Amino acid sequence: MTSTPPARDPSGEGEKGAFVREMFASIAPRYDLANRVLTVGLDERWRRRAIRVLAPKPGGNVLDLCCGTGDLVFGLLRTDPTLEVTGVDFCEPMLERAAARARAHARDRARFVAGDVMAMPFDDASFDGATMGFSLRNVVDIDRTLRETLRVLRPGARFVNLDVSKAPNKTWKRFFDLYFYGVVPVLGGIVGGSRRAYAYLPNSLIHHPDAEQLRERFTRAGFSQAGYVPLMGGAIAIHHGMKQ
Ligand SMILES: C[S@@+](CC[C@H](N)C(=O)[O-])C[C@H]1O[C@@H](n2cnc3c(N)ncnc32)[C@H](O)[C@@H]1O
Repeated sequence: MTSTPPARDPSGEGEKGAFVREMFASIAPRYDLANRVLTVGLDERWRRRAIRVLAPKPGGNVLDLCCGTGDLVFGLLRTDPTLEVTGVDFCEPMLERAAARARAHARDRARFVAGDVMAMPFDDASFDGATMGFSLRNVVDIDRTLRETLRVLRPGARFVNLDVSKAPNKTWKRFFDLYFYGVVPVLGGIVGGSRRAYAYLPNSLIHHPDAEQLRERFTRAGFSQAGYVPLMGGAIAIHHGMKQ
């Protein structure tokens, strides 16, 4: 099941998507376990917080971008079983695991769709809300993804993005970086099965905007009331914005 990941992160924009897709395909079988171990289970708490920030209305139709194995999809349905939740991702092995989890837990209000979040196979104004977890760092074009998200949301709908960020306190950032860039590749390699993938994942934060810059990108993409909730001293952030 585990395929050999590419040896390096290609610099070409066109290749990056394929590289990311292959990388996630290689770690899909143990992705959930690695997440729980690397965050000592805190990732689930952060997801619950993100869902509270979204505050989906009962019976609403919610989209989870880059759904992976479906953690946010199932989190949303646990919070409110009346929701209809669609997960979209471009990595088939991740989607297969998500679909298997849905079958195992009889989650018939979850559906999983293959697609690139920069050009989604959904009509304009189709969703009452959207989430994204630990993924914006991995897309080829953040601004295009934000504009595309805005397109598929209905007026009044919120988008909530949970991801790793850059802590403003230098000492805390140094400590967190030690863990993120030093421990995660080694531990992720052991638990997740691919040292190269877990070396790439932290590095995707290096060129990612900091929390304030990302808030500005939300605004520039057209989201109103853009803001963010820092968690873990700002090492994690939940960005949110609304479609007017
Ligand atoms: C770190 S995982 C996060 C999965 C899930 N959201 C979670 O919270 O565990 C990143 C996911 O983003 C997906 N992804 C990255 N770029 C994508 C794109 N342009 N379109 C669709 N999916 C993408 C990958 O396939 C992978 O499943």
